[in-house]
Amino acid sequence: MSVRIATSVLSADFRRLGDELAMCEAGGADWIHVDVMDGRFVPNLSFGAKVIETVRRSTTLIVDCHLMVVEPEHFFDDYVKAGADVLTIHAEASPHLDRQVSRIKELGCKAGVALNPATPLSAIEEVAHLIDLVLIMSVNPGYGGQRFIDHTVDKIARARFLLDQANSSEVLEVDGGVTRDNIYRCWQAGADTFVAGNAIFSASDPQSEIGALRALCAESA
Ligand code: DX5
Ligand code: ZN
Repeated sequence: MSVRIATSVLSADFRRLGDELAMCEAGGADWIHVDVMDGRFVPNLSFGAKVIETVRRSTTLIVDCHLMVVEPEHFFDDYVKAGADVLTIHAEASPHLDRQVSRIKELGCKAGVALNPATPLSAIEEVAHLIDLVLIMSVNPGYGGQRFIDHTVDKIARARFLLDQANSSEVLEVDGGVTRDNIYRCWQAGADTFVAGNAIFSASDPQSEIGALRALCAESA
């Protein structure tokens, strides 16, 4: 199974976003994770289409947009136009998941569904065959730099089981507090894509930290 590292620009230095993205590419990052927050679904505001567009223009990597917003459907067209490759919406904020996921795919984008730590996997069971990515939150969303919640590792393992049973090639992504201390456990549980913000941008050598995180999975494969 391949390992993907998705660096989260939420922790980047926005004065030099272009350089930060170039550093991610040079370090071998696979995806750039862009966290959109609306101050309603989560208690924090971040950014929207303009930043997605800037990221798109600054990198050839996959632009992985995580929408922590209520009524995410209002943003699908704009964000796809801005260059998003993946749009992930939260099950808790999306009562019409079937329709919303179908709409994202209609726009030619990959569709993901995220689950907060307290949300059961059953929230996606009925649409698992439709989606391209499952995102297991390992912190309560809203801020970068939070501490990893240990009980979410078990949910990753159950999500892997669900996807394997469905013979699905969906991406299984984990987001929040991922560090050298827990990435191996997430990998072992079946995650293949690892969002990392603080662990990379606060490292003494951010560029080599990307490889160091990846190696912890690959070495043990
Ligand atoms: C949290 C965001 C995460 C965050 C990850 O609400 O969804 O993507 O930026 O950052 P770290 O790795 O610092 O927890
Ligand atoms: Zn995120």
